[in-house]
Amino acid sequence: MRLLRQSIWWIWLLAVLWPPAAGAQEYSWLAYGDFRGQFEPCGCDPRTDLGGVQRLAGFALRERALNPEVLFFDLGNNIAPPKANSNSNADAATQGIKDRFLLEALIRINPAVVLPGRYELLRSRWMGDAWTRLKAAANAGGPLPYVLSNLKEGLGPQWLKESAKPFIKIKGVAVFGFTWDPALASFLLPATSPAGIRRLKILGGNPELAGLYKILLFNGPDPQLKALIKLSLFDEVISSNRASDTAKPDQPDRANEGRSIVRLTIPRGAMVLQSQLGGQGVLRGGAARRSEAKSLEAIFSKGSSQTSPLPSFPPPALALAPLKNVSWLERDSLNPEVWSAFFFAYESALKDSFDVRAKIRLADLVNTPFAGSQACKGCHAKAYDVWAASKHSNAFKDLIDKGKQHDAECVGCHVLGGSEKGGFVSQEASPQFMNVQCENCHGPRKEHATNPTAKPRWKPAGNDFAKICTGCHHPPHSPEFDFKAYWGKIIHGHMKD
Ligand code: HEC
Ligand code: HEC
Ligand code: HEC
Ligand code: HEC
Repeated sequence: MRLLRQSIWWIWLLAVLWPPAAGAQEYSWLAYGDFRGQFEPCGCDPRTDLGGVQRLAGFALRERALNPEVLFFDLGNNIAPPKANSNSNADAATQGIKDRFLLEALIRINPAVVLPGRYELLRSRWMGDAWTRLKAAANAGGPLPYVLSNLKEGLGPQWLKESAKPFIKIKGVAVFGFTWDPALASFLLPATSPAGIRRLKILGGNPELAGLYKILLFNGPDPQLKALIKLSLFDEVISSNRASDTAKPDQPDRANEGRSIVRLTIPRGAMVLQSQLGGQGVLRGGAARRSEAKSLEAIFSKGSSQTSPLPSFPPPALALAPLKNVSWLERDSLNPEVWSAFFFAYESALKDSFDVRAKIRLADLVNTPFAGSQACKGCHAKAYDVWAASKHSNAFKDLIDKGKQHDAECVGCHVLGGSEKGGFVSQEASPQFMNVQCENCHGPRKEHATNPTAKPRWKPAGNDFAKICTGCHHPPHSPEFDFKAYWGKIIHGHMKD
């Protein structure tokens, strides 16, 4: 209670003594980030069909046409996490292409400020190579405006030393950046150490920045954020998505839309905005948001169920009032005209890589353990008819319709044996293995098809039939999956009775 009263007092004091800094009304910003290596959404389910840089490009064009002054903040964590994404079927080559083009696309968006996130810093060597290549190809469009306020003097990888500034001043705003991970301690200062605190206080107290509105872009764990808030140096903190590293960015949290953005009043009278956008949307802020801010009367008025509880300080948990100021990157933000040559180059690079992979896999077709559904038709006519009428038998055509039949990431779940020896190679070399087939679920059956008694009765491990499905039917790609309901649509064999 004492804390609550204290924070009310603070808000009152700030409202009286701390009118918005000059210039603060004149800017508005848009923040995005956390693509996690996801160049585009899969579109497997309309509900998860969000995000991707192509839509971001269309969105940015539209917003700049409306307001050429708008500032774009890139919150980082845009390339894939350092360890191979366990949820993804993409092979390393496909992911490499996606990361490279993602980086280039984000440079083309031309943000005012970029925070190098944990992923960029943990994959510093890769970033250095990409940086050099982009510069050599003159695609980089000048140095990226990286901001990192806690970089140790003279340390860190070359690309970062060359590009990162401790703060960036634009109009009436000073933008700072803070990223932390214990694995990066050799060149970053934590906000929980005396050296880190000293550094931030010197930066924040810089007389050159007096009167400016101070924004901090943040990527790191909670204790760091709390330590930063305690310093009371910033008017606004924009924290990037902190969902676990294994969460895929195309796993939208739309049911939790309100909860995914927290607004937290901090002593300087401003707030923390925490986004779980994960490459799916754009957070709006600045002047536009400020005019939407609740009045003090509204905050203090009782009885309104809409009014969120006042935060105590220090915050017990970082989950508070919802802010509905996200623009989701939906299909309607896609503008096929924007950078068409760039996106064409992306598709060609994927196809080249796919062709290389197909060439290597071609030899395995000779001794394939797979038979293909046609081979089962004669003896299992009923099962065959069920399959032929199901969407599984059409899974590859759906990829072709989207022009994604050369994207190894997509192909993996839409064919037979996409990553197994002797499985699908390409539309031309192995048309009999296109689509999801009997053997995706029943295992390779070539031997059985000629000698049905050769193998013991098929059972999935632990009799867990649902597990056969969830290798492909998992949240980003099949958010509504329910074994009973889905099996009901393709039921065959003795489980029918
Ligand atoms: C992890 C496996 C997996 C990956 C990877 C995958 N898909 Fe899918 N896809 C599915 C599943 C499962 C469904 C069926 C979803 C459902 O109906 O619940 C599906 C459905 C679809 C559909 C049909 C949508 C409709 O409206 O009927 C399309 C199109 C599609 N995927 C395209 C893609 C593209 C493009 C990619 C690559 C960017 C991709 N998929 C990657 C598993 C996958
Ligand atoms: C999406 C996965 C899936 C696909 C595709 C699929 N099946 Fe099945 N199949 C199952 C499951 C699950 C069962 C139930 C197992 C049971 O009843 O023991 C089953 C049962 C069967 C059975 C009966 C087994 C028994 O002991 O009664 C046969 C035969 C069979 N499938 C053949 C086929 C053939 C042939 C195709 C292709 C034309 C096919 N299945 C496609 C998953 C699949
Ligand atoms: C020449 C006929 C023949 C062909 C071709 C054939 N099967 Fe069978 N299959 C059988 C017979 C016979 C059984 C045993 C029936 C039983 O036990 O009820 C059987 C049993 C099965 C079973 C259930 C028992 C087990 O082994 O798990 C599955 C699943 C199955 N077949 C899948 C397939 C698939 C998939 C194909 C195509 C790749 C295929 N079969 C091709 C004749 C055939
Ligand atoms: C190899 C990956 C894979 C596996 C394994 C798999 N599916 Fe699918 N499934 C797909 C894809 C891809 C689609 C979408 C095909 C399309 O529409 O393009 C799909 C679509 C479906 C659909 C149609 C959904 C609709 O909207 O009508 C059902 C039902 C389904 N699967 C059931 C199952 C069940 C049950 C299992 C497990 C016994 C299973 N699937 C296993 C990939 C898979």
